[in-house]
Amino acid sequence: MNQNTNKIVAAKNKICLALDVDNTQHAINVAKKLKEHVGVFKVGSELFTIAGPSILEKIVDVGVPVFLDLKFHDIPNTISRVARVVTRYGIFMFNIHASGGGEMIQAAVEATHDEAVKRGLTPPLILAVTVLTSIDNKILQKELLINQPVEKHVQHLAIMTEENGADGVVASPMEVRVIREACGEHFQIVTPGVRPTGSSVGDQKRIATPSDAINQGSDYVVIGRPILAADDPIDAAQKIAEEIARVL
Ligand code: C5P
Repeated sequence: MNQNTNKIVAAKNKICLALDVDNTQHAINVAKKLKEHVGVFKVGSELFTIAGPSILEKIVDVGVPVFLDLKFHDIPNTISRVARVVTRYGIFMFNIHASGGGEMIQAAVEATHDEAVKRGLTPPLILAVTVLTSIDNKILQKELLINQPVEKHVQHLAIMTEENGADGVVASPMEVRVIREACGEHFQIVTPGVRPTGSSVGDQKRIATPSDAINQGSDYVVIGRPILAADDPIDAAQKIAEEIARVL
């Protein structure tokens, strides 16, 4: 492999495709079609609710790592129990809400590791959602009464996540730099709110291009509609990988 091909492979491995569809067979077809062109498949609440947990085994069988994006947010005991069942599916990562607090994060971490050891499995990475990418300063301050700029609040939640033993966070590309500075190189940063130049923004607010997000220090970019709704999804994914490869 030449250096350019290596970079394209490294770039495509950073693309996490959000399988945001409402039909099990459609999701499996998309996964099979795009498995050589992205690095992770994300199963979110829409697909999980229509397809049930067996969708995890089906997508894991396609042969690409799976990110379960159900953004768990509950009392520590419930989170600990859910983390145990999630661990049994052999997925790559799942997420919880950082705003559930340190005790909840610790409960997820301890249960995941304990269950993985008991069953001889690799524990999934645990990410904490900081502030949703559809929330801006106005919503944060006027509706949620958190009297801080989004960036400060995200950095605070990221530090709290790291101190309580989780592997990383989900955050907007705009906050990657401050998170990296505060939490170090080993900390995983996954960024939705990514839009290739020229694609529709939709409901996302704090957005950046895929190459900007990676340049800022993101480990994975989560992309849904710009690939799923493209006339040619393979071509859309390849163009995103080429764009990312240029900054690697
Ligand atoms: O279609 P689009 O590229 O906007 O999809 C982004 C995906 O990332 C969606 O599945 C959304 O639920 C998810 N996500 C997000 N913001 C977060 C966490 C997850 O947009 N903070």
